[in-house]
Amino acid sequence: MEEKSSLLVVDDEKGPREALRMILKGRYDVETAENAFRALEYIGKKSFDVAIIDIKMAGMDGLQLLREIKVLRPDMEVILMTAYASVETAKSALQYGALDYLIKPFDNKDVITTVEKGIAKRGEFFKTRFEIEKLQLATTELTKEIENAKNSIEKHYTNTVKALLAAIDAKDQYTRGHSERVSKFTAFLADRIGITHDKILPLEQAALIHDIGKIGIEESILKKEGPLNQSELEEIKKHPVIGSRIISSVEFLHEMVPVVLYHHERFDGSGFPEGLKGTAIPLGARLVSIADAVDAMLCNRPYRSALAMDHVRREISSMAGRQFDPEIVAVVLTGGLIECYMSLFDYQPTGR
Ligand SMILES: [Fe+2]
Repeated sequence: MEEKSSLLVVDDEKGPREALRMILKGRYDVETAENAFRALEYIGKKSFDVAIIDIKMAGMDGLQLLREIKVLRPDMEVILMTAYASVETAKSALQYGALDYLIKPFDNKDVITTVEKGIAKRGEFFKTRFEIEKLQLATTELTKEIENAKNSIEKHYTNTVKALLAAIDAKDQYTRGHSERVSKFTAFLADRIGITHDKILPLEQAALIHDIGKIGIEESILKKEGPLNQSELEEIKKHPVIGSRIISSVEFLHEMVPVVLYHHERFDGSGFPEGLKGTAIPLGARLVSIADAVDAMLCNRPYRSALAMDHVRREISSMAGRQFDPEIVAVVLTGGLIECYMSLFDYQPTGR
């Protein structure tokens, strides 16, 4: 059975109060209060759909009660009752949020019509609130779906990078560990020069696969012990271009292309593959370039042992403005950054 709407009639005169109750009780759940204070007590305990309030009451009058109700239950509809002489007061009370007013002595039909209007407005209010709640729910669901999709993309992204990394490692043993260290050091440097965190992660991932192009280079060249001859050098110089082609085919890896393609460019323009100069070389590539070199110097290579710390510092310093961006070199050489770098990976080079 449908629940009846609830009304509260507030009047300090018993006559009109009871008269209203009699008119409305068949259609609605009607409660009555003999003054504003009692009414507030009831309203504090439950929300009525409509309150019908006499304006002229002893103690707290109807207008004051109307204001209190609008604070306590802003969505409750209020109808005022007034004697003919106070109609202007009732009209002006509409601005405080009263729905309408009834003039005493009231006509039964008027009472029912006005109360129905209040109930209809309450219905609209609940409908709107329901729609808003539905919308909020839909928004929450959508946000969750977006979050899941984002997580799924990130997972694919990470897995793709891992798969690419495994592909390089399988081909070139030297890159094992080297890629991770270059990646961490690049992130470390990026943080030091003030790159925002949201941009560091993609840079870290790009650094991780900077040598992906090596999977397109002959294994005999990659694994050759001792220095490479000219044609072998030319062959190995192709790896940035090969790498950039590999990752260009994967849409969500596009932003890594500049790092992969330009990590062998040199600040003085003598690098490869395009001979870009200075800040024309993307910042990510300039960072990876120095991280790559630092790690290479600190590691044993097939044709030489790892270099000592002082030696590495001198090398890096002498290459400022030639191979490396001098501003990044300054960052690397200050604050014991290379030492920090080594402690990041906890390895001891056998320096000479
Ligand atoms: Fe490389």
